[in-house]
Amino acid sequence: MYELSNRHILLGVTGGIAAYKAADLVRRLRDQNAFVKVVMTLAATEFITPLTMQALSGEPVHLELLDADAEAGMGHIELARWADALLIAPASANFIARITHGQADDLLSTLYLACAAPKFVAPAMNQAMWGQPSTQTNIQTLSERGVQILGPAAGEQACGDIGEGRLLEVADIVSEVSNHFQCGALAGRRVVITAGPTQEAIDPVRYLSNRSSGKMGFALARAAAEAGGETTLIAGPVQLSCADNIRRVNVISAKQMLAATLKAVDDCDVFIATAAVADYTPVQVADNKIKKNAAEMELTLQRTDDILATVSALPQRPYCVGFAAETDDVIAYARGKLERKKLDMIIANDVSDQTIGFQSDENAATLITADTELLLPRTSKLNLAKQIIDQVGTRLPGHSD
Ligand code: PMT
Repeated sequence: MYELSNRHILLGVTGGIAAYKAADLVRRLRDQNAFVKVVMTLAATEFITPLTMQALSGEPVHLELLDADAEAGMGHIELARWADALLIAPASANFIARITHGQADDLLSTLYLACAAPKFVAPAMNQAMWGQPSTQTNIQTLSERGVQILGPAAGEQACGDIGEGRLLEVADIVSEVSNHFQCGALAGRRVVITAGPTQEAIDPVRYLSNRSSGKMGFALARAAAEAGGETTLIAGPVQLSCADNIRRVNVISAKQMLAATLKAVDDCDVFIATAAVADYTPVQVADNKIKKNAAEMELTLQRTDDILATVSALPQRPYCVGFAAETDDVIAYARGKLERKKLDMIIANDVSDQTIGFQSDENAATLITADTELLLPRTSKLNLAKQIIDQVGTRLPGHSD
């Protein structure tokens, strides 16, 4: 059985010498029993004819934003809704820049904005263009938004240069898209994840908070969604974006995070508490900015409710995963939290190491359950998140190998 069987793949083709390879791509996707509809930019039609793409896909090729034949003239919305995945191959440097900045000045870029399906971008361009900081920043931004970047490959280019920028081999593109549709570790499961810090107001301009950037929690949300989980991300105040297939709820304080979590966990299968929730909050929030008249000031704080312990004590509780941010005796303290909060799993990370944990792009951890201790060596937060999600998936009730 092909993973792409009966899947609706919307293939966007942009202008570049590699556009001719899109013809083979359509054939390979069709070989896997996928339904393929093709959208071309005007520039792409200079390199390969719409007629070729039409003959291979067996579907009319879409070129214009205003499609009089589509119901109510909104062809882009219909196409966006039709797609199970939007694959842009080849994606030129110009097109990548346009979608990064949210432009919607032709059918394909408008579709990109309107489409909530998973997105794949396969760049193809000259090696110098690929190496430009602007292109690299755009790619990084798309990747952080949950777009899967396929390639590019390295080698000899049509212009005679040698380097990175060639379109990934067609077979590899098909296999990457196909992998996405494999039944993931959390397929059919509902997952709620907290991420980032909370801010506890002192007065209208000051608050207590911590150094959490939200990167670990956002990586987990991405990994959970990619593993097929219906994912809700409850995010404290952070500067990160997430993919369209993740339901995001923004909160500021620990109290708001608790309320949003309790609303979201009803009927969920997995709860992962990555957030660095403030343990204390000011008893009183001043209505006006506190003046600095006195040499000293006292702030009375009270304990916040423990969100994770509250969820874990619910009568119909999900599988509960906590994080332990420790600076010493990491494993012993983490085990203590696992037991006290009655968790199924805790991820212990050593935050005394400034190069991992808070704010960094990498982390290392020990995954602890009642009867396991698994070392997860240093890697990107996304890789670590994928390993944690796989481990959670295999431990859920009803899991079969
Ligand atoms: O956000 P990054 O910059 O990527 O950094 C990631 C991280 C270091 C914040 C993350 O990996 C991490 O360790 N998160 C947990 C931080 C923390 O608050 O740990 P803790 O040991 O104080 O709390 C234990 C557990 O209880 C955590 O799952 C926490 O979310 C939860 N908790 C704590 C207090 C509270 N009031 N409610 C909670 O739910």
